[in-house]
Amino acid sequence: MNKLSIIILAAGAGTRMKSTIPKVLHKISGKEMLYYSISEALKLSDDVTVVLYHQAKLVQERMEKYFENVNFVIQDHENYPGTGGAVMGIKPKYEKTLVLNGDMPLIQSSELEKFQENEATIVMSVLKLDNPNGYGRVIIENDKVQKIVEQKDANAEQKKITTVNAGIYQFDTEFLLESLPKLSNANVQKEYYITDLVEIAISSSKTLYPLLVSEENFKGVNSKVDLSEAEVIHQNRIKKSFLNNGVIMRLPSTIYIEEGVQIEGESILENGVTLLGNTQINNSHIKTNSIVEDSILTNSDIGPMARIRPNTVLNNTHIGNFVEVKKSTLNGVKAGHLSYIGDSEIDEGTNIGAGMITCNYDGVNKHKTKIGKNVFIGSDTQLVAPLTIEDDVMIAAGSTITKDLKSGELALTRAPLKIVKGFFYKFFSKK
Ligand code: UD1
Ligand code: MG
Repeated sequence: MNKLSIIILAAGAGTRMKSTIPKVLHKISGKEMLYYSISEALKLSDDVTVVLYHQAKLVQERMEKYFENVNFVIQDHENYPGTGGAVMGIKPKYEKTLVLNGDMPLIQSSELEKFQENEATIVMSVLKLDNPNGYGRVIIENDKVQKIVEQKDANAEQKKITTVNAGIYQFDTEFLLESLPKLSNANVQKEYYITDLVEIAISSSKTLYPLLVSEENFKGVNSKVDLSEAEVIHQNRIKKSFLNNGVIMRLPSTIYIEEGVQIEGESILENGVTLLGNTQINNSHIKTNSIVEDSILTNSDIGPMARIRPNTVLNNTHIGNFVEVKKSTLNGVKAGHLSYIGDSEIDEGTNIGAGMITCNYDGVNKHKTKIGKNVFIGSDTQLVAPLTIEDDVMIAAGSTITKDLKSGELALTRAPLKIVKGFFYKFFSKK
């Protein structure tokens, strides 16, 4: 690990998001934006500081679920608002300090490493964009960066500049600490801008290196539009990596895969598939418009239009259309159509008929259903839990099962069938 300190700015309210959720907690591919910044930073540094202010407690709690070894500090936002104010008071451990905006969920440690290749007092990231809206513009004269002007402070001419500040900087720590007190808040937003350090460096003849970076990795998220665009880039990244590992995807642009999902072996994802949480797919075929959340599927096929809810384990199992499975373990089972299987354990060779429902909830508690091997369950049956069905049992269609069943038994509940000859003709001719 290189000797580098990293500061992540995450104190802003994010008013442009028009949300009560702090900006850095908005999610991309299932994880908070700030999660990505911190996890990439930790790959490069053992001195990572995250600056918080708005809803600080909530943000810190969420991040502490994922990370240890991160310092959280609170910005003196009332007296020193702005990205410059955010850095004040921090004492980085190492000679170089990398400052990242917390609203850049697409950054990768391999890109951050490039900052360290240059020795300049400030190495700043620069983007060339067709639409620079929202970004600080980089003023260049005689091929030299002069300063950064924020959009809100820019005149009409400056707003046309398409070279912008991407929002990541590496500073000589010494320069950073001695220059922060020189920042002023004489601007439209009355904030202390970190970007003014560029002008301070130039005027004191320090070296500055503009590192050209791509939107693919350095896009800033300030609005819900930015958030959705960043998520598309992130999704493409996730899917490309699975495709490169041999996963087959039909119409990848229609598939959604969250960060944390694992896919291995000869797996196929058809169009419209959604894989959430810590799902693991091994050698399995997920058919059109199926959803899998926090579950493990091995040598199985599901769907089209199946829903596998958290804590389900499927091995060598076939799940067909309109089947919902929750918190259940199925080994070598077939459930082809229209069922709800909840809080269950079902063993090899068992066939679940269309419309079987486990009645796992009595209005107060959830109860378990245990079904053994080679059980044949007819269509439209209800299994009222808690219930244990041993191996080699047959349940007739239309039955409601309220008692445990032993090996070899047949169970059926049936109202007697009544047939009235000619009734149809009599009934309708009367009308
Ligand atoms: C900032 C840059 C801009 C650059 C853009 C890149 C400044 C003044 N402007 O603008 O030049 O083009 O990023 O995305 O730096 N934050 C704090 N404390 C504060 C204010 C903000 O920690 O008092 C944090 C925010 O939580 C956010 C980051 O700093 O993560 C950037 O703030 P934001 O308001 O998004 O700045 P931009 O307007 O995007
Ligand atoms: Mg921003």
